[in-house]
Amino acid sequence: MKVLVATEKPFAKVAVDGIRKVVEENGYELALLEKYTDVNDLYKAVADADALIVRSDKVTKEVIDHANNLKIVVRAGAGYDNLDLEACTAKGIVAMNTPGQNSNAVAELVMGMLVYAVRNFYNGKSGSELMGKKLGLLAFGNVGRNVARIAKGFGMDVYAFDEFVPAEKIEEAGVHAVANRDALFETCDVVSLHIPATAETKQSINYAVVNKMHKGGILVNTARKEVINEPELLKLMAERFATPKKMGAQTEEANINAGLAAANQIADFFKTGNKRFQVNK
Ligand code: 3PG
Repeated sequence: MKVLVATEKPFAKVAVDGIRKVVEENGYELALLEKYTDVNDLYKAVADADALIVRSDKVTKEVIDHANNLKIVVRAGAGYDNLDLEACTAKGIVAMNTPGQNSNAVAELVMGMLVYAVRNFYNGKSGSELMGKKLGLLAFGNVGRNVARIAKGFGMDVYAFDEFVPAEKIEEAGVHAVANRDALFETCDVVSLHIPATAETKQSINYAVVNKMHKGGILVNTARKEVINEPELLKLMAERFATPKKMGAQTEEANINAGLAAANQIADFFKTGNKRFQVNK
């Protein structure tokens, strides 16, 4: 049984070593395709793979068409907008993600960005503190919950809105539930986005929404860039804070968590048929 790890942006070495251990201890063979720049290399590598682990690599219908033996693909991470689920389903391939494994990494980045922003990007001028500021979380999944946990340590007053999470669940976590998205932007000094990229959310964070924030408000986006309406926010964003690269899950720990979870999910799937975290049901 061959497990292919195909990562344009490789995992940290320590994570690859861990994945290899899990794969080999289960009696499978590991194939590694890192930093590939030509999709043909992926087509070639996937041809005889039984299982595939990817990061943000695009698993398109073409990739699936080249995979003759593939039974399972695991996106080592939360967002699976890079997987063609229909193509997987059509070929009877189980698609999974590894939810929660890199959420602390993203949450720590949110706090780092916030400290940097309120200290005026370390330009030497007096900034302000996060303590006592109102933080609004748009969506209260794994990342939102981790941000809430850390932000409370900073003494922030945490609010959240999530159309899929009942207010009681939010309040149970010691976070104020707000009635709707607009109220979150109107109430909070900082809004941090933790929504997935779906047909409904893409481009949804637009001028009208963000303009509800008071002057000096901060918008943090560590979710998919597609949820932002970039042309509309460009002017607003220029006055706020953004990093040019997608880097939420870029920690060794997150690589280990997500990479090993992916390898273990594959072993468990082959051994027991466990399909927990399947995303193409
Ligand atoms: C996720 O959806 O889990 C993150 O965006 C991770 O993406 P990456 O593996 O490309 O860093």
